[in-house]
Amino acid sequence: MDFSIKAFDAKNTLATAKAGVIAVAVYENKKLSQAAKALDQNGDIAAALKSGDISGKAGSTLLLRGVAGSAAQRVLLVGMGADETASEKTFTSAVTATMKAFASLGAADGIIAFPLASVKERDINWALRAIVVAGFESEFRTDTQKSKKDPAPAGVRKVTIATDAAAQAKAALAQAVAIANGMNLTKELGNLSPNVCTPTYLANTAKKLAADFGFDVEVLERKQLEALKMGSLLSVAKGSDEAPKFIVLKHNGGKKGAAPVVLVGKGITFDTGGISLKPGPGMDEMKYDMCGAGSVLGTFRAIGEMGLKLNVVGIVAACENMPSGRASKPGDIVTSMSGTTIEILNTDAEGRLILCDALTYAERFKPAAVVDIATLTGAVIVSLGNHKSGLFTRHDDAHDKLADELVAAGKQAGDTAWRLPIGEEYNEQLKSNFADLANIGTPGGASITAACFLENFTRKYTWAHLDIAGTAWKSGAQKGATGRPVPLLTTFLMNRV
Ligand code: BES
Ligand code: MN
Ligand code: ZN
Repeated sequence: MDFSIKAFDAKNTLATAKAGVIAVAVYENKKLSQAAKALDQNGDIAAALKSGDISGKAGSTLLLRGVAGSAAQRVLLVGMGADETASEKTFTSAVTATMKAFASLGAADGIIAFPLASVKERDINWALRAIVVAGFESEFRTDTQKSKKDPAPAGVRKVTIATDAAAQAKAALAQAVAIANGMNLTKELGNLSPNVCTPTYLANTAKKLAADFGFDVEVLERKQLEALKMGSLLSVAKGSDEAPKFIVLKHNGGKKGAAPVVLVGKGITFDTGGISLKPGPGMDEMKYDMCGAGSVLGTFRAIGEMGLKLNVVGIVAACENMPSGRASKPGDIVTSMSGTTIEILNTDAEGRLILCDALTYAERFKPAAVVDIATLTGAVIVSLGNHKSGLFTRHDDAHDKLADELVAAGKQAGDTAWRLPIGEEYNEQLKSNFADLANIGTPGGASITAACFLENFTRKYTWAHLDIAGTAWKSGAQKGATGRPVPLLTTFLMNRV
């Protein structure tokens, strides 16, 4: 979908705007939005609302043709809830309904004239991003690997968003489009089958991104990981015939020498559990165990397109977790890059085993902050469901500040996270009789002990961990990657400029 911004004024009125369709908001209290009023010369719109042809409920729509007060061929009335102050939810369902209606019209271009500043506690940037993301979502297809492609997106493909603050909105629109493009990459990578989206595929994707957007890129091979003594990461990789890849991307958008923000993504391209094998049903969804890595690549896509003025390093630790004659066994003890020895009590707790070495590697960048992103635990779905990503950091002033930044960015971007605690009482559970650390604790609070495990490797910098196991993809009939938390991460980075 192609988006642009246009300011309408006294000379260049909405009423005289030519388009296949104009979408305007109406409310359950029978009131018209300003834009709807501007088109309602003959009272057709007010009459439609009064007669009950459209309820005004968020997401209800009514298509009118030949409205006297509009030069457009059609006017789409869109319900935006009870009254003139929309909630995030009412605005989003209005936008989704608009995109659905647009897709089935015999019109190629449309105007969305919604009250962008009417959403409680959210700004125009939020509203623009909601519109663009819904537009991209409506066109997203999962047919990359189908021999017969799904029907191509139809209907309105060119959308002009009406606003009165055109200059600010133009910049915000460009950022929203960059975020949506980043989400599409993350979704595509997540949905690809695990025999295609291997560690090598992720490395090639990173190289292509680097070529397209001018990032520095380096891909470390098994030999180099051995030289770095990444014994923990390599213990996961060794059960698989796929070569591990350790990908380092650099976006040098900030001042030369300024400390970078480092993003670290879990890139398990398939998680069988290893010798601690997972149950069969639903195991296909463990192709999504690289969604942390996918979100790092998608965020780079977004900040590359934006030309973000910040130094950002992206690290992707990619391998498969397979059972084999060479795989780790429960009880194996390995030595991480940091020198800490780890007793692998469960080979299915592999994410932390690859991340701990990536987090140690991150030290060399003297980072301003490190954020790791991982589909780390099923337990985070028990805690937070599929709505919010789990956020973990230490509990001191610097980390409270980082946590607040991430939570705020999530709200701003419609991609929320919720902070959970970590601490000594949980870390206790990771004691081993035979090694410095065990890789699992007791079943209760498993997301927290997983975060505590990582915390042990992050004491040289400010760090946060996002557990995205509940938010990175959807199961069931709607199975597919969501593109989260690219909006959160990108907004967090934008706020740091
Ligand atoms: N990739 C999984 C986490 C996961 C499981 C995400 C289900 C989404 C849905 C991770 O590697 C894993 O297996 N974690 C274990 C940890 C346990 C062994 C302590 C889990 O959550 O069961
Ligand atoms: Mn696992
Ligand atoms: Zn995993």
